[in-house]
Amino acid sequence: MKQRTLVLLKPDALERGLVGEIISRLEGWGLKIIAMKMIWMDEALAERHYAVHRDKPFFAGLVNFITSSPIIAAVFEGEDAVEVVRRAMGETDPAIARPGTIRGDLAQDIERNLIHGSDSVETAKREIALFFSNAENFKLPRGD
Ligand code: RTP
Ligand code: MG
Repeated sequence: MKQRTLVLLKPDALERGLVGEIISRLEGWGLKIIAMKMIWMDEALAERHYAVHRDKPFFAGLVNFITSSPIIAAVFEGEDAVEVVRRAMGETDPAIARPGTIRGDLAQDIERNLIHGSDSVETAKREIALFFSNAENFKLPRGD
């Protein structure tokens, strides 16, 4: 089914000049950009976005990293977009992410793992609403 999912290109993607490469890979999977902007997340937004991890030992580091410099937030649309992005990303830890995945080929470590993708359709809805208004989520005239 056609879905939408939230993608964040994390600070390391911008610092290392990998934005074009990552977007190109996602487009290569047939996904279309519906919304995109460059923002500097503040602590409040980061804590809401990663609320599910609030009690984890890595939470403070995660919030610190994602707010350390500007990022790209985007909405991608396509058949099974949530699962397709997760497959394109690879495992959270680049050390075990498979070759051919964004993290497996390009990421440096479990914190500097380049990309976030929503982990379910429900999560995607919540996360998209954190970053974009309805008006910012474009409907492509020839998007099917
Ligand atoms: P993301 O949310 O960023 O797309 O990553 P993910 O679904 O693959 O991983 P998740 O479990 O949601 O964790 C969110 C981010 O927290 C950092 N993390 N560190 N040190 C650790 O054990 C650990 N586990 C997770 C990662 O940077 C991960 O992307
Ligand atoms: Mg996650």
